[in-house]
Amino acid sequence: MPATVVVGAQWGDEGKGKVVDLLAENSDLVARYQGGNNAGHTIVAGDETYKLHLVPSGVLYPGTLCVIGTGTVVDPGALVTEINALESRGISLDGLRLSGNAHLIMPYHVALDGASEMRLGKFSIGTTRRGIGPCYQDKASRIGIRAQDLLDPKILVRKLEVALELKNDIMEKIYGLPRMSAQEIADGLIPYATRLAPFISDTSLLVDTALRNGQNVLLEGAQGTMLDLDHGTYPFVTSSNPIAGAASVGIGIGPTRITRVLGVSKAYTTRVGEGPFPTELDDADGQRMLERGNEFGTTTGRQRRCGWIDLVALRYASRLSGFTELALTKLDVLSGFARVRICDAYRTREGELLRDFPYHQTVFHGCTPVYHDLPGWDDDITECRDLKSLPTAARTYVETIAEAVEVPITLIGTGQGRHQVIDTVEV
Ligand code: GDP
Ligand code: IMO
Ligand code: MG
Repeated sequence: MPATVVVGAQWGDEGKGKVVDLLAENSDLVARYQGGNNAGHTIVAGDETYKLHLVPSGVLYPGTLCVIGTGTVVDPGALVTEINALESRGISLDGLRLSGNAHLIMPYHVALDGASEMRLGKFSIGTTRRGIGPCYQDKASRIGIRAQDLLDPKILVRKLEVALELKNDIMEKIYGLPRMSAQEIADGLIPYATRLAPFISDTSLLVDTALRNGQNVLLEGAQGTMLDLDHGTYPFVTSSNPIAGAASVGIGIGPTRITRVLGVSKAYTTRVGEGPFPTELDDADGQRMLERGNEFGTTTGRQRRCGWIDLVALRYASRLSGFTELALTKLDVLSGFARVRICDAYRTREGELLRDFPYHQTVFHGCTPVYHDLPGWDDDITECRDLKSLPTAARTYVETIAEAVEVPITLIGTGQGRHQVIDTVEV
């Protein structure tokens, strides 16, 4: 059985958690392939709301294996807190598995993330300050600490000493932060090591075995395409690759195992943190999206910047990940607008019209959106469960997007709830 990737098509918070939870009902295994607890994936099931940061969004289905893959970065304390919180709500974590090769976020990563943001001042990235960037930095520098190191206290303290050798100087001399002791960090990790040890495994083998056994495997992306380290709006990006190709690397399976790629986009756009955002609105329309969409970050509580849907960016996302389908979430939030706007092209400073996303940052920074306006709709669509019951204007909006991106929209979000969705739609 081939694997399906669910990938954010914008700047994150597209509703991946809800989509993965929906698909997880018919999946045997759900695996996260990158990112860490910078992610915040919300699932609303009945009266219960779950905000997941590291645990895959398949956890609400008993018996589903939930894998935190090799490509992720894991803050042991944050993971233990999340596990305990879920267990206290009666959710079983028996199916959780943590890759022994996943890198661990250490206290110095968190300290350095905050200090580096402070130092950048007006050039700061607006990170979640969870230590994501510094942890991936150490991975690339080959001085990282991995989940498997928790299983060997002697190796753990030795590796911490190596990592801290230069880092302590940087913390003290560059940032004026206190030095840290390898032994103290290792001692502090003991309770987490005890708690996490039963989950640590060879997750590449696990996922491969599931695929060989014909099981349904879902690979859950965090963040979004425009935050991709290689292809996003660099430097205002995260430090990993959310795009679909990274799922193969981050899990440890061959790319030929992935045949279905579901891109997730809001019916409009949001972004948290700094960086360019061509369709951003600073007016009553943006305010309305913010309020009706309750656009506040799941992880940091920061207000999300809002704007109209950007098809130049969405086509780019489809190109980068090879979307076979698209889920369009939060269409209900657009009810009540007199007209809805679709950005179908950018105009450069020189007046050139671009349908393809420009590779050069200077060109991109100078782009203004070119809008195609469509009539809005007043009806509340939160009870709509099939395409026929959508107001004509809402249907036209969805069809216009599917045609322009050249990807079928197979899921439409009509509310926060698990079942507030129009499913198996081919527009
Ligand atoms: P993720 O990071 O991609 O999983 O998205 P977040 O959970 O951070 O943010 C998406 C927010 O939108 C969450 O509060 C979801 O409950 C909510 N949401 C998802 N789909 C819909 C939808 O179709 N309509 C509405 N109104 N809310 C939705
Ligand atoms: P989910 O999975 C939205 C943003 C941060 C910042 C930039 C870099 O919930 O969609 P980082 O802490 O990763 O170094 O921050 O990326 N960011 C997100 N924005 N949703 C997320 O995750 C994000 N994870 C990181 O706001 O601009
Ligand atoms: Mg989120």
